Amino acid sequence: MSESKKLFNIAKKVIPSGVNSPVRYFEPYPFFTKKANGAYIWDVDNNRYIDFCNGYGALLLGHKRKEILKSVSNQLSKGTLYCTPTESEIELSKLIIGNFPSIDKVRLMNTGGEATMTAIRLARGFTKKKKIIKFEGCYHGAHDSVLVKAGSGSAHNGISVSDGGLDEVSKNTLVVEYNNIEDLEKTIRKNKDVAGVIVEPILANMGLILPEKNFLYDLRKITKENNIPLIFDEVVTGFRVAPGGAQEYFGIKPDLTTMAKALSNGFTISAVGGRKEIMDLLSPVGKVYQASTFAGNPISVSAAISSIKIITKIKNKLYSKLEKYNLLFTTALDDISTDMRIPHQINFTASMFQIFFTNKPVTDYNSSKNANAKKFQKMFRTLLKKGIFIAPSQFEVVFLSDAHTESDLNKTLDAYHAALKSVKN
Ligand SMILES: Cc1ncc(COP(=O)(O)O)c(C=O)c1O
Repeated sequence: MSESKKLFNIAKKVIPSGVNSPVRYFEPYPFFTKKANGAYIWDVDNNRYIDFCNGYGALLLGHKRKEILKSVSNQLSKGTLYCTPTESEIELSKLIIGNFPSIDKVRLMNTGGEATMTAIRLARGFTKKKKIIKFEGCYHGAHDSVLVKAGSGSAHNGISVSDGGLDEVSKNTLVVEYNNIEDLEKTIRKNKDVAGVIVEPILANMGLILPEKNFLYDLRKITKENNIPLIFDEVVTGFRVAPGGAQEYFGIKPDLTTMAKALSNGFTISAVGGRKEIMDLLSPVGKVYQASTFAGNPISVSAAISSIKIITKIKNKLYSKLEKYNLLFTTALDDISTDMRIPHQINFTASMFQIFFTNKPVTDYNSSKNANAKKFQKMFRTLLKKGIFIAPSQFEVVFLSDAHTESDLNKTLDAYHAALKSVKN
């Protein structure tokens, strides 16, 4: 019996379902990780995988980036948690503000979910209204206001509203189709009590779904006309698609922004930033409450400062290289799938892509759900056997990192070739 299987059998006895986050589970059992470095991750049975899960997008610069480890270890020698303000929090805030022109002020916290929860509370506090509009399939974390027709693990496990979530909360969340501006307009017309609209500017939690031409511009225009704060959830896209996130990529200024993942390349940190008049509502001066013991902890802050400095230094090469690799890879993948006559769609942008087994374009929740997820699972398992680790769900994304080499990508393409054969049969 493999070490992973042995550990999983023990884990199930002490950890619900054996995992600490639902998407980590896959059948028959997930591998247990021993270590990671650069583009690779090793399991406890000493199998090496090329990692395309990359901390669900966090590891833009690859595992164990040496400059980041250096600044973290420097900070470790000075202490791990002070719970008092530090100069490095100012430095990090300035770096974030410098990259995101829509942000006047920023508050640091720990997880993406905490950031979206705070952004929504701020929008409600600012407008004194109740309802939130979210889009089908967008995932904004595991709290009641946004766990309604959400993507990621909740779509994978078929949970559109979680047991234990309060109807009183979720009834204040209005759900609109992604890429459907008429649906948004109709919902705003019908509801005078809208406090905010939250969106993933690139939907990376139903597989990858791109905003259609004008969708984000129209979204910005309509929310502005109706005085509704627009929240860009850039937990995945912040620093990943450009240093200034999807808002830089598309040239749009939201009122509030959330970010996490690539902000620190693998440490626990998130942020909410936005217009001064909204951000200043946060307590203690304002009356919108947000607090956390670990918020702005010096370890994560040092990692985030170092990550942004690296990104700033190499950005001219980094983003164009990843985009080029992604284009070459997805073009080859498309050719292979077409040659094998496998009905498929490939959505890609910047350093992210996903393949869907369907002959219809994937543009929203329903079209993603209608793709053949069983075939995806089959492909996933063959890829794993061939030493390629992608996130184990159709409703996640394949993430490239700066650590991937051309040789890694060629090996990966060979593995996809075999995996697609297994899907065909
Ligand atoms: C777009 C988006 N927002 C929010 C979250 C929640 O972040 P966390 O898992 O850190 O709470 C995620 C997580 O994947 C996400 O993809």
